Amino acid sequence: MKVILFGATGMVGQGVLRECLLDPKIENVLAVGRSPAGQQDAKLREIVHDDFLDYSAIESQLAGYDACFFCLGVSSIGMDEERYRHLTYDITLAAATTLAKLNPGMVFIYVTGQGADSTEQGRLMWARIKGKTENDLLKLPFKAAYMFRPAGIQPLHGIRSKTAWIQAIYVAAAPLLTLLNRVAPKYMTTTEQVGRAMIEVAKDGYPKPVLESEDINAV
Ligand SMILES: NC(=O)c1ccc[n+]([C@@H]2O[C@H](COP(=O)([O-])OP(=O)(O)OC[C@H]3O[C@@H](n4cnc5c(N)ncnc54)[C@H](OP(=O)(O)O)[C@@H]3O)[C@@H](O)[C@H]2O)c1
Repeated sequence: MKVILFGATGMVGQGVLRECLLDPKIENVLAVGRSPAGQQDAKLREIVHDDFLDYSAIESQLAGYDACFFCLGVSSIGMDEERYRHLTYDITLAAATTLAKLNPGMVFIYVTGQGADSTEQGRLMWARIKGKTENDLLKLPFKAAYMFRPAGIQPLHGIRSKTAWIQAIYVAAAPLLTLLNRVAPKYMTTTEQVGRAMIEVAKDGYPKPVLESEDINAV
């Protein structure tokens, strides 16, 4: 499979990139980001791009791919609704609309979050916006689209969150998280499992379009 990866510099994206580079089923990875992922690998090519609402300048390089793993995203904490919608909905739909046009045979996998609100009507701002993003991605003419809704994600293999306070929590709670991963798959997964599950779901599909933490762990 040929894969496009958004968010390769982030915690989830680093984990997904690691699994893609290790898996012989992945022929090559094109990472699109505003800064390089900083890794050298024969399978990896990178495009540093600065306008995440407009891909016209790089469209010719985005065709011919089998899957997109969209791990670009931010925490809503401390962010107003307009900014969070821009970073979550506008950026994701701009990229996905371009990719669907260029790659009708593509499988698109979006990292959303547990509690995303499919009704788009609930009280939580972040959940409504993630829910609308999911709903509109599922309407695009991809071969298939899957929404990954992890709860907690433990970073493994030296991977770090870009967000200092999240990284501090993961370091302080590492032993507890390791335990939770074993006993509470509904609430915890790992960067490794998210990456492995994305590859398997892109290859073989999944019986439903929205995968909760437990589903991700069971793939
Ligand atoms: N971490 C968790 O435990 C967890 C749990 C559930 C769901 N999620 C979801 O997973 C997704 C990724 O989270 P994460 O923990 O990997 O976040 P992260 O470590 O903060 O990484 C965010 C990624 O998004 C990119 N990005 C952010 N703002 C951007 C912008 N304006 N333009 C272009 N790229 C931008 C970052 O690129 P730069 O390197 O250029 O900043 C980075 O690659 C989010 O949607 C989050 O809600 C995370």
